[in-house]
Amino acid sequence: MHTQHQYDVLVIGSGAAGLSLALRLPARARVCVLSKGPVQEGNTFYAQGGISAVLNREDSIEAHVADTMAAGAGLCDPEAVRFTVEHGPEAVQWLIDLGVPFTRDEGTQNAGFHLTREGGHRHRRIIHAADATGRAVETSLVGEVRSRENIDLFERHIAVDLITSRHLHRALDRCLGAYVLDRGSGRVEVFKARFVVLATGGASKVYLYTSNPDTATGDGIAMAWRAGCRVANLEFNQFHPTCLYHPQAKSFLITEAVRGEGGKLLLPDGRPFMQRFDPRGELAPRDIVARAIDHEMKRLGCDHVLLDISHRPAAFIREHFPTVHARCLELGIDMTKEPIPVVPAAHYTCGGVKTDLRGRTDLENLYTIGESACTGLHGANRMASNSLLECLVFAASAARDIGARLADADMPPELPEWDESRVTDSDEEVVVSHNWDELRRFMWDYVGIVRTDKRLQRARRRVELLQGEIQEYYGNFRVTNDLLELRNLVQVAELIIRSAQLRRESRGLHYTLDYPRPDDSHPPADTVLAPERRIDGGRIQPIGVRQP
Ligand code: FAD
Ligand code: SIN
Repeated sequence: MHTQHQYDVLVIGSGAAGLSLALRLPARARVCVLSKGPVQEGNTFYAQGGISAVLNREDSIEAHVADTMAAGAGLCDPEAVRFTVEHGPEAVQWLIDLGVPFTRDEGTQNAGFHLTREGGHRHRRIIHAADATGRAVETSLVGEVRSRENIDLFERHIAVDLITSRHLHRALDRCLGAYVLDRGSGRVEVFKARFVVLATGGASKVYLYTSNPDTATGDGIAMAWRAGCRVANLEFNQFHPTCLYHPQAKSFLITEAVRGEGGKLLLPDGRPFMQRFDPRGELAPRDIVARAIDHEMKRLGCDHVLLDISHRPAAFIREHFPTVHARCLELGIDMTKEPIPVVPAAHYTCGGVKTDLRGRTDLENLYTIGESACTGLHGANRMASNSLLECLVFAASAARDIGARLADADMPPELPEWDESRVTDSDEEVVVSHNWDELRRFMWDYVGIVRTDKRLQRARRRVELLQGEIQEYYGNFRVTNDLLELRNLVQVAELIIRSAQLRRESRGLHYTLDYPRPDDSHPPADTVLAPERRIDGGRIQPIGVRQP
């Protein structure tokens, strides 16, 4: 038997959500943070635009609440929105105190910081570190975590599944820890903890084209689902309107702040088009802009549109967008002189594991925060730069709740080891790579920006086939990082498709040609799915879905 790792709090994920939570816990708590790759690799590091919060005297909590609710198309939870927005200024101040180098602007009334604008925001309320806010935030958080004696960081450790009291054949369902694959040794180890926090980010890798890094495979959502938690609103996948279109550019975003600072969207022949779709033009919420681009690309048969900010002074562009400017130049595009070719790409998972305002899930002692959670903040469409804010606010809230419960929570007993007695090394890796490609392509084609009943049915048939194959493969072979990610992606894809099929209207990010308008015959409601499952030799198997 191997030694079982033992902590007060096991945090799965080392982005803005996971690291902030670890830092906000009481110093007496023994904390473990897992990262499936290098510590900084995740969506947070790549965030460009910034963090929204009421920091300008002309702005107000009411205005930020109203803008968030308007973007969310009737599905935001008003309590979650107010809670997040009210805690915004404190969350940003916490980062300032940690030393995050936000861009300064001494000549304004904005507490000394430059605030930019993005779609849906009526005010300048986005604090940023030039156009690489995520890198600045993540670097500061990682530095602080490494300096804390109570926090252990395990890089290249991927959580396979949660361990619950069901694994001990006890009825009371409580989270006790996780099985974790050490990618170095190839061994699956037991991490047990009084509390477990999922902070594993979103699932945009389920789509062929995405702004997200490879980590975004929905692992936390799939693990929570398999462990018995409800998920909500997974049909709302946000497509960012402007990712760089270039054969050598994989997943490179052109921040919405470019439009916030005057950038115009143009057709390939140079004509503007956004005013035809929305009076707010380039600064309409993302769902509207992405759909408008998709519509024009399909209408004209072109493979991209253009984003032009070359009318602004070159020095301004270089100062505000150094990362975008440098990357474009590397590829031969000088954005100070010419427009940038752009396309929409999958960007953000608005739905996720259903939580309350403390980050608690349906499973006792399991929390979910950040992009893998569905707190009610985003509704049917997340407003730009509200995501990092949500990570920070809910990390603080969950840390408070865990801190208050620590003294009364038992350490789990010895847990069953991972059972490898019935598996061998795979001799057919091609199954994983093939299914990975197939999944992402049909999700893009059938469950993308514009959907129909027929396309969703096609996607459902295919995903069920893949699930069967992957489940069989998983049952027979030793687990690897790629297999685990694929298994999670397929699970989340199935949940996205099911959720999309249940929503018989168009609302926010979910747009279907069969029901092109919102259904106003009854109040809008979340799409909530609840799992049925069984545990088979230590391995959890989902066996169906029931409507809660
Ligand atoms: P992530 O930062 O994605 O971190 C997830 C972590 O979980 C990683 O450490 C990963 O290794 C770990 N992990 C995942 N699965 C496992 C597993 N099975 N086992 C162990 N570890 C695991 N939002 C804004 O508000 N403002 C912006 O300007 C902005 N710009 C963006 C630009 C880009 C290009 C992208 C992709 C996103 C942007 N977003 C922005 C969205 C925002 O960055 C993310 O929603 C947010 O960073 C998510 O943080 P997180 O901590 O939840 O997850
Ligand atoms: C961007 O900079 O455009 C991304 C902002 C976000 O996703 O919130």
